[in-house]
Amino acid sequence: MKLFDVYPLNDIIVDKAEGSYVWDDKGQKYLDLYGGHAVISIGHTHPHYVKRLEDQLHKVGFYSNSIKIPLQVQLAEKLGKVSGREDYNLFLCNSGAEANENALKLASFYNNRKKIVAFKKAFHGRTSLAVAVTDNPNIVAPVNQTDNVVFLPFNDEAALQEYFDTHGNEVSSVIIEGIQGVGGINMASDSFLKLIRTLCDKHDAVFIADSVQCGYGRTGKFYSHDFAGVDADIYTMAKGMGNGFPVAGVSIAPKLKAKHFMLGTTFGGNHLACAAALAVLEIIEQDKLMDNAATVGEYLITELKKLPNIIEVRGRGLMIGIVLPEELKEVKKNLLFKHKIFTGEAKPNVIRLLPALNITKVEADIVLEALSVELKA
Ligand SMILES: Cc1ncc(COP(=O)(O)O)c(C=O)c1O
Repeated sequence: MKLFDVYPLNDIIVDKAEGSYVWDDKGQKYLDLYGGHAVISIGHTHPHYVKRLEDQLHKVGFYSNSIKIPLQVQLAEKLGKVSGREDYNLFLCNSGAEANENALKLASFYNNRKKIVAFKKAFHGRTSLAVAVTDNPNIVAPVNQTDNVVFLPFNDEAALQEYFDTHGNEVSSVIIEGIQGVGGINMASDSFLKLIRTLCDKHDAVFIADSVQCGYGRTGKFYSHDFAGVDADIYTMAKGMGNGFPVAGVSIAPKLKAKHFMLGTTFGGNHLACAAALAVLEIIEQDKLMDNAATVGEYLITELKKLPNIIEVRGRGLMIGIVLPEELKEVKKNLLFKHKIFTGEAKPNVIRLLPALNITKVEADIVLEALSVELKA
């Protein structure tokens, strides 16, 4: 059997990883400013994380959600505290798409409505409802197409107001990334997020904050939506939550009530996933990684803005987009193959920096230096 060929691959095999570095099978060292797609939150193979998972594996790796799993309760308590949402309830699942799928279903169960408002350039995942609210027709299969979703322009308050004025009582939920990741690091404005809150309150619609990529402390606050000073009804999270172990969460406001069998999953919240997620939160708290994300992120953004030939630097904390002109489209490849630095990208020509939250200023300087060489060239 061969692999189903859906990923365009770089010809690199990563064999070893530590902190913000990875090594290939020939011993070549790379700086990881991509964090394996915003997943590595506390650094690769963090010793506390490795130990917690190892210890757990020796006790019990998996048992189903038909029994009590105290680690889930510990995780919910810790997440409530670190995210500042102690009164919310946690549903555990396995991926970002699944978290959004459950959030959208839950909203529909809550208000018994079908219409979902999503935004242009949004990415929410590849499963049925998650892909239906994703603004990319190339990945929406005919079976996923639905009239239940409307895409409005991002940050367009007049368009949102008008949609609610005419259809407000049909809207089940509004789903929005605090900073669009795949869409190219586009920040939702504070006033737009506040308007979503006001309109959802007025029409009893559910405000879903997709924090799969922009959450988990990456921007310097736990959820990037927090900068607007409003609460969402549901937060979805995944990527950074397990530092690479597949685990995702749906944090749910108390007004949305649980009923037995309303949601469920076989693997969600298993013992190993909880151990991984607890280790991540313990390190985020202990090493004050949200503060580090804010400080190093601000430093990077300030210094990047001084470099030549960049059209725009966007983002917050350690979620940064560097918009380059078409003629500099080789820069990302050169960073990887000449300078040995992994970065992410977004179409058409945005370099995305999504490093671990404990990246140091010294490591940030390495990418700044490489970029200054490339941009002068
Ligand atoms: C904002 C956002 N939501 C959802 C997802 C889907 O997450 P997953 O790939 O874990 O299903 C992603 C993945 O990139 C994302 O960036």
